[in-house]
Order: sequence, then C-alpha cells, then structure tokens
Amino acid sequence: MSPTADKDFSFPKGFLWGAATAAHQIEGSPLADGAGPSIWTRFAHTPGMTLNGDTGDVACDHYRRWKDDVRLMRELGLQAYRFSVSWSRILPGGTGRVNQAGLDFYSRLVDELLEGDIEPLLTLYHWDLPAALDDRGGWLNRDCADWFAEYGSVLYRALDGRVKKWVTLNEPWVITDGGYLHGALAPGHRSRFEAPIASHNLMRAHGAAVQAYRAEGKHEIGLVVNIEPKYPASDSPEDAAATRRAHAYMNEQYLHPALLGRYPPELKEIFGDAWPDFPEDDFRLIVQPLDFVGINYYTRSVTAADDSYPLEAGAVRQPLGTYTETGWEVFPQGLTDLLLWFKRTYGDLPVYITENGAAFFDPAVAEDSRVRDPLRIDYLRKHLSAIHDAIAAGVDIRGYMAWSLLDNLEWSLGYSKRFGIIHVNYGTQERTPKDSARWYSGIIESHGRGLSDPLPY
Ligand code: BGC
Repeated sequence: MSPTADKDFSFPKGFLWGAATAAHQIEGSPLADGAGPSIWTRFAHTPGMTLNGDTGDVACDHYRRWKDDVRLMRELGLQAYRFSVSWSRILPGGTGRVNQAGLDFYSRLVDELLEGDIEPLLTLYHWDLPAALDDRGGWLNRDCADWFAEYGSVLYRALDGRVKKWVTLNEPWVITDGGYLHGALAPGHRSRFEAPIASHNLMRAHGAAVQAYRAEGKHEIGLVVNIEPKYPASDSPEDAAATRRAHAYMNEQYLHPALLGRYPPELKEIFGDAWPDFPEDDFRLIVQPLDFVGINYYTRSVTAADDSYPLEAGAVRQPLGTYTETGWEVFPQGLTDLLLWFKRTYGDLPVYITENGAAFFDPAVAEDSRVRDPLRIDYLRKHLSAIHDAIAAGVDIRGYMAWSLLDNLEWSLGYSKRFGIIHVNYGTQERTPKDSARWYSGIIESHGRGLSDPLPY
C-alpha cells in the first residue's frame, strides 16, 4: 500500500495544473521573420561559453512546431501553459519599431491555447535581452526600466484581451548571479560592482512594467522568483551567520524590495562597498501592488561558512541525499517550509508554483515510443504532496506548472540535461510523452486525488 493511500489529496477549486517553458530554451529560429539577436544568441555563439558549443538556433524547433506542441498539451489535459516571449522578436532593436511578424507568432500561439481551453501565463522576460539593449548597457543602464515598460506595453495592448496572467521577470536572482556576478550565463560579466546595479535596475524595470500594466491591462500581473530554504549545517554561530547571508541573498534580495520596499541589510554585509545606497524614490517605483507571486522551486541548501565568493557561505552535500543530474538535492519538505516562510513574511498574497521539476537521466532516443522515468514521477509526486501540505496550512496556492513541458536547452549546459515531461529526440525533433507526462495527466484529471494512488512501477 502506498504511504499516502489514506490521504485526501483534493486541491482547491480552480487550482490550475500546467507546465512551463521559456522562449530561448525551446523556440529555435532566433532570427526568423525579422527578429533581432538576443544576448543569448551572442553568448552561445562565443566559443567556450556553453557545453559542447550548444546554441538555441534549433532547440526544440517550437517556433515551427508550436501547433503540434499545443496539441500534445491538449492530449495531456493541461489546463495552463506558462511560456515566455522573446523581446527581440517583438522589438528587434529592444525599443522603437515593433516587428509585427514576431507579435503574430505569439498571438497565434495564444489563440491556439485558448482554443484548447489552456490558460496562457505569459512571462515577459526569461533572460533573452535584445543584444541591441546590451550594447546600451543592458540591465546596468537605468533606462532599462523605460525600455521594459515600453516592451511590456506593446504586449499588453496586443494580448491582454486574451492573456489574463502576466509575469514581469523570471528569476532576477539568476539573471544577476549568473549574468553579472559569476558570468556563467549571458551576458557573462563577472563583477561584484555590477551585480547590485543590475539587481536594482531589474527591480526598477519590474516596477515600471507593473505600473505600465495598470495603465493598459485589466487582469493579473506578478513576479517570478527562484527561492530555496537554507538550513544551517551545524549549530555553530559561523554557520548560522552564513545561512542568514545565503537566505537574504537568494530569498529576500528581490521579494523584499518588490513587496516590502527595502533590501535586507545582509546585502551590504555581503557586497561591502559594492552595494550602493540606492535613491529612496526608486523604492516607490519598485514596490507595486502585485496580484500574485510565482515561486520556482527545485532544491534546498544546507549551508556552512566557507570562502565562497562573495557570500562566504556554501552548500554542504548530504551523504544520504538523492541528487538530480544538475546536482540538486531532492528535498520536497523544503517547498512546504519555503511556502510557510513566504506567508509568514509577506502575508496572504496568492502564489503559483511557476516551475518545479528535475533533470534525471533519460536516453537520447525513446525506444519503443516510451520513456520510463520513475525518478521524475517520484519527484513530482512528492513535491505536489508538499504543496498540498502548504495549502492545508493556509498558503493561498493557485496553481502548479511542471518544469518543463519539453526537454530543452538548459542554458550554458546545452542539451545535456533533460527536464521535460515530454521527451525530445534532438536528431528528429520527435516528441514522446514520458511516463511522467502520462502520470501527471492522470493527476490533473483527478484534480490531485490520484496522488494517493500507488506509483505505476
Ligand atoms: C529557469 C529555467 C531552467 C530551470 C532548470 C530555472 O532556473 O527558470 O529556465 O531551465 O530553472 O535549471
């Protein structure tokens, strides 16, 4: 008997079940139909920046196969689909001239989703800044708040009649930590002095895009953050302090300004003289009322003091832990803990789990049109159960988007990590729903109740 056999896993009425992707990771054809290059086109085409030199030139060829992909979503019974728009398809130069062909692509996609009763959740920015804007300083230029609001407004005007859930930024922490501090992601800068500026400007851009939405849009808009609970590795005061820094850096750096209008004091401790005193006025722009927050959850960190730059805190590997292909520990309880912390800290704002999933080994080719991925099913099931616990404890969680709909381009790690519930054969572009997709489809159909059923293996 399954350990959860007697548990009632009903989810609240209206809870949305879906899956997520991002433009650069699936679309391919980045320069088609008048689009401009993005920082990711440039970065991936710079030797040495991505594993095996992988680029997004083809990816999952979703730019041409989008209709088939929506058909697959319908077959699985998805109720929602979170995707992102490529800014440089809409505004090839980042600002100014609108490229109608780019707009038409997303407009057709949205129509097709609605036709299939799939609710679109649109993310404005999932890391692919127009290269033309990077040439003007990118997120280091304070004008980026106006650029982002201009871009958002073009989309609000075109799509708000049909898209009712909007996201400004996906994971500002990764944009800054990967793009401006450690350089593993585009635009590949490595500067302790730039990172705080980029973070702050991202938050100003978020605020400006929400403000612009209130002027044009009639529905809901929110921010998506990736957060993970930090637990001290020991009860030493050094590890406690390291945990506090790591928590402030990853979990509070963006939510505090967006929801409370201030930064946590630890950021100054971490960045020292590289953390400026930002103008008070900026916080009035940043702290806009939000309709929801999207939380992306993958793992936890057990934190100890060490010499990692610049945090002086690092993750300690758990000898008894289960780790995914990206080296992340599977720790579902962390999601419940995190959601309870979110409620305690920021109050009763509605939450969507906008990403959750795992890269486990899957073969490059789906033999016999089947991919058996019991580890992924186990991961999804335990995390859905953790979400159910948080709902029972009073957190207002409105939906769940599995990451990812398709195997796709894992940024600098290229095609080496498979997160999809649908397998992609990169040689033929053939799609094969993995066992996890079929299992998830059953969970959706039972509105969560199937979580108490024994696993199909
Ligand atoms: C991002 C995705 C990414 C996933 C797995 C998130 O940080 O939003 O784009 O593929 O995690 O690494």
